[in-house]
Amino acid sequence: MDRPTAGRAAVIAGLGAYVPERVVTNDMLAEHLDTSDEWIRTRTGISTRHVVEPGTATSDLAVEAGARALKSAGGLTPDVLVLATTTPDRPCPGTAPDVAARLGLGRIPAFDVSAVCTGFLYALATGAGFIASGLAERVLVVAAEAFTTILNPADRTTSVIFGDGAGAVLLRAGDPAEPGAVKALDLGSDGTGRDLITVPAGGSAQRSTGLPAKPADTYFQMDGKPVFMNAVLHMTASSKKVLDEIGWQVSDVDAFVGHQANLRILHAVADRLKIPREKAVVNVDRVANTAGASIPLALADAAADGTLRPGDRVLMTAFGGGLTWGSTAVEWPGIEAG
Ligand code: COA
Repeated sequence: MDRPTAGRAAVIAGLGAYVPERVVTNDMLAEHLDTSDEWIRTRTGISTRHVVEPGTATSDLAVEAGARALKSAGGLTPDVLVLATTTPDRPCPGTAPDVAARLGLGRIPAFDVSAVCTGFLYALATGAGFIASGLAERVLVVAAEAFTTILNPADRTTSVIFGDGAGAVLLRAGDPAEPGAVKALDLGSDGTGRDLITVPAGGSAQRSTGLPAKPADTYFQMDGKPVFMNAVLHMTASSKKVLDEIGWQVSDVDAFVGHQANLRILHAVADRLKIPREKAVVNVDRVANTAGASIPLALADAAADGTLRPGDRVLMTAFGGGLTWGSTAVEWPGIEAG
């Protein structure tokens, strides 16, 4: 490595998001599931979600969001692409190379990151690491999920919670003090909780038994209550670590962008951090839980509707399967979502 890297930071220079057109309401789900609009809204805060049509895959969402982030970045081109997804187009190969090719990015390094709902922050950390080390000048970080494709249509406990979508940021090398610089990152995992959020079949563990998979095991499964508790615990603790590291008081936070899993979880984390609930960016009501894509989608919505203004101090935190969690903070740059 021949480039000086001391004092380099990854700076958010572009932002893009995309959701598929089809909107599914709670009432539409209640037509074939034993559930109701009232239950879903009061337990989760969700009213609608966007759902892919058959034939649309994660890569299609990723290409749309990636192209918008590149447009927002005003023509900067990445030399690495990192894609966070729980729903790759195929078990093998990774989906990122296809996304890079379809975005016309040539033969740049492109690979997938798997951290479920924490995927965007893990991918952001990976991209920031490439930049900090001097291995890259610009990294396109995409998080895309066709999450509804892995839901069990007969399982009301999971089918009502998730939606599809994608978000992306373009990171460029810059100064740690400039707006948009990724200030600190806290990441963690606890594999003892691997069974709380899982698709049990389809990987090497199940295949190596040689036995046919139970149909329910080929779908996403979640143990909602412990997931709820762990989400609140880890997002709160991780957020505190980031605030401590960068020296922000809770009152310094202008916008709290938590993983959009459930409005009750968002409020519980805000309450524990003593951040007023009005500072929590919320779009879970419209897009539901889009897993790894949730934070960049929330950022894009908040930037578009004026909730996020240049200079705002933004705290982001997420929790997901693995178990995994993470947090980061930025001073919002003067960019518009593409
Ligand atoms: N419609 C109607 N009733 C439902 C339902 C649905 N879609 N899903 C579950 N229920 C029922 C349950 O069967 C249960 O009935 P019972 O009391 O007769 O047994 C009742 O509602 C309460 O279920 P419970 O699981 O206690 O509800 P909850 O308040 O914990 O809410 C979740 C369930 C899934 C919304 C909540 O646990 C949650 O949000 N967990 C975290 C999920 C998440 O965010 N995952 C992603 C993490 S990154």
